[in-house]
Amino acid sequence: MITKLMCVNVTAISKEDMIEAGNVIKAGGLVAFPTETVYGLGGNALSKDSSKKIYAAKGRPSDNPLIVHISQWESIHAIVTKIPENAKKLADAFWPGPLTMIFEKSQLVPFETTGGLSTVAIRMPNHPVALAFIEEAGGYIAAPSANTSGKPSPTLASHVVEDMNGKIELIIDGGLVGIGLESTIIDLTSPVPTILRPGFVTEKMLCKVLGEIESERTMKDKETKQAPKAPGMKYKHYAPKGELTIVEGNAEEVITKINELTKIAKKNDEKVGVIGTDETVEKYVADSIKSVGKRQDEAAIARHLYGILRDFDKENVSIIYSESFQTVGMGQAIMNRLLKAAAYKLISLNVDE
Ligand code: TXA
Ligand code: MG
Repeated sequence: MITKLMCVNVTAISKEDMIEAGNVIKAGGLVAFPTETVYGLGGNALSKDSSKKIYAAKGRPSDNPLIVHISQWESIHAIVTKIPENAKKLADAFWPGPLTMIFEKSQLVPFETTGGLSTVAIRMPNHPVALAFIEEAGGYIAAPSANTSGKPSPTLASHVVEDMNGKIELIIDGGLVGIGLESTIIDLTSPVPTILRPGFVTEKMLCKVLGEIESERTMKDKETKQAPKAPGMKYKHYAPKGELTIVEGNAEEVITKINELTKIAKKNDEKVGVIGTDETVEKYVADSIKSVGKRQDEAAIARHLYGILRDFDKENVSIIYSESFQTVGMGQAIMNRLLKAAAYKLISLNVDE
């Protein structure tokens, strides 16, 4: 299959382009598109066959459900059986935006889309291209992140090209995404609303709107035997090819430790990459040293993280050491993704308990 690349101007979106993209979906095809979080791989959410094609293109296990993307609140009525009061409150506060809510699904949504579950994840993305495209495509777009399963999510159209060229009909290039980490997921079908995946919308922001909420234990604790409620969270995810280890602690000690570890790895003929910040990159000695941005700028850290992991892959880096990024807002989401990418390999240097 030849994959077409469509470049769009986000501030002047062409209606014809969106109709063309919508028609690909209506004909049963797949379209990758930009959202404010990461690029999505879209198909018609109400078609079994489209959802099967999505799993095939990603190489994703079919028990891992897809998020249904909508462009207007009213669309929700046809695809859920009940709308909890909390849903409207959250939608008023955060939609369109990086929040996915889980509902009981209606019969209109095939089990192929929900990975066999009786619930459905729904999100209204805050991106003008995504909203215009969903509208022209019929209103219901199933979309996981547009990466090959197990690779970091795409934050640029070129990442999507790397993974999806020849596998899907169309890629819409809307430039670098705004946030760079996937949406927060909250389950509204449990007695107390429960966060299944941390993201830009933090626990604190959700608490302000809802009062009481919970975070799923499996999200924080790798030792638990319980299966996570968001099936996708159980897979090794966001993984670079190189072996990643996070080093946390006092800044100077972290730099010394990473430089020591790099020396040892170099003796073993490894190609070593380091992830630091603008403040620290000059202090490292390694084959490839990358900055995620200023330490205090968590938006920059989130936006650059996946791209850096992909760049290390291209450079065939075999060992990666990263500083830890415990920021106040998105810190939990950033560390959740980084720890998964590192398969929880973390070296703590005298961190206070
Ligand atoms: O920001 C995002 O959410 C991006 C963009 C494209 O919108 N999408 C995304 O999709 O990250 P994906 O498929 O990569 O991650 C979806 C996550 C998976 O962990 C999946 O298991 C979970 O959502 N999920 C989907 N439906 C669910 C359901 N009914 N119950 C529990 N978890 C669900
Ligand atoms: Mg994903």
